[in-house]
Amino acid sequence: MDTPAKEIVLSGIRATGNLHLGNYYGALRKFVSIQNDYDCNFFIADLHALTTAPDPQSLHANVRNVLAEYLAAGIDPEKATIFIQSDIPEISEMYLLLNMHVGVGELMRTASFKDKARKALGLTAPTSAQDDSDEAFERQIIGAETNKRVNAGLLTYPTLMAVDILIQKATKVPVGKDQLQHLELTRRFARRFNSFYGVDFFPEPTDFDFGGAPVKVPGLDGSGKMGKSEGNCLYLIDDPKVLRKKVMRATTDEGPKEPNSPMSEPVANLFTLLELTSTPEVVKHFRDAYADCSIRYGDLKKQLAEDILAVTTPIRERVNDILADDQYLRRVVRQGAEKARARAAETLREVRQIMGLRGI
Ligand code: TYM
Repeated sequence: MDTPAKEIVLSGIRATGNLHLGNYYGALRKFVSIQNDYDCNFFIADLHALTTAPDPQSLHANVRNVLAEYLAAGIDPEKATIFIQSDIPEISEMYLLLNMHVGVGELMRTASFKDKARKALGLTAPTSAQDDSDEAFERQIIGAETNKRVNAGLLTYPTLMAVDILIQKATKVPVGKDQLQHLELTRRFARRFNSFYGVDFFPEPTDFDFGGAPVKVPGLDGSGKMGKSEGNCLYLIDDPKVLRKKVMRATTDEGPKEPNSPMSEPVANLFTLLELTSTPEVVKHFRDAYADCSIRYGDLKKQLAEDILAVTTPIRERVNDILADDQYLRRVVRQGAEKARARAAETLREVRQIMGLRGI
């Protein structure tokens, strides 16, 4: 009897630097945990990295870094397909085709586009709901009298991400909370394509459900998420000294004055990280100490730094050896590209047929 085909999982990380704890808990750790049970495809999004105009040398170095960190964290190339996005030219062609079914307006309303476009134009984030209206934003983009520009690749970022997923016909996409809107758009584009051409061609992908709430790893600078452009990252390859220093410098407050006080955001963020990295007993110990006002944030930070290091040290220790082995790295991505291209080429062939690009 045939064994049923495994469900197709796909996800990627942009080649914009070393991986941080947000990438790890939002994505990488999940990748490793499911590679035995699914048809897993994990890639390095170098085309997406181009949307923020990196210099060629650092882009190339970062592709290698992300690849080495994937492998060091335990993604096994014999189990999962690992590839570089730009090694699959079919993605770029399908990006052009899918863009014909994507609206400029819906792309401009995407939260991550608004955020990145503001940054590119040097605009500050809006302070009131009114300033954040779509019309105000569109006026800013179109009318920006500046020599800075928002490149069209940033606008069509969600199309490219949808193509990554749809070209492999993936149905499960493990990502952090910040990517859920892009996934929602992917589903919308898939439905739109299917209904426009009257076909049942693209499956609608969903977030990989791990049972808990979607992961958002906070920064330790008080508010918001951990992210490269926020400059608040704890990196997997941070030296223990550096990492301890970063954690010890985390923003806190003056401490609870009354039993069972509500938590300020910076302290709640510390607890979020503690919950991700420490044992339930450790978390309970500090929660109880917060509740009865005996907590010393310095103790919590020391514990947190050691528990983070317990997670990152084995990865950090493997990365350099892997980076030194060019042949191995090349073999991994060559093998991965072969597999990923085969499926991408098949999907693209059918898409061209469906859309009427059939030659004579
Ligand atoms: P990137 O590089 O921005 O993020 C890679 C992954 O890390 C997760 N992540 C976080 N999760 C929780 N807390 C954080 N602070 C945090 N910071 C980052 C992101 O949610 C993501 O899962 N657009 C994608 C790359 C991509 C992709 C795809 C993903 C391109 N095509 C197709 C899935 C499927 C991205 O955000 O990369």
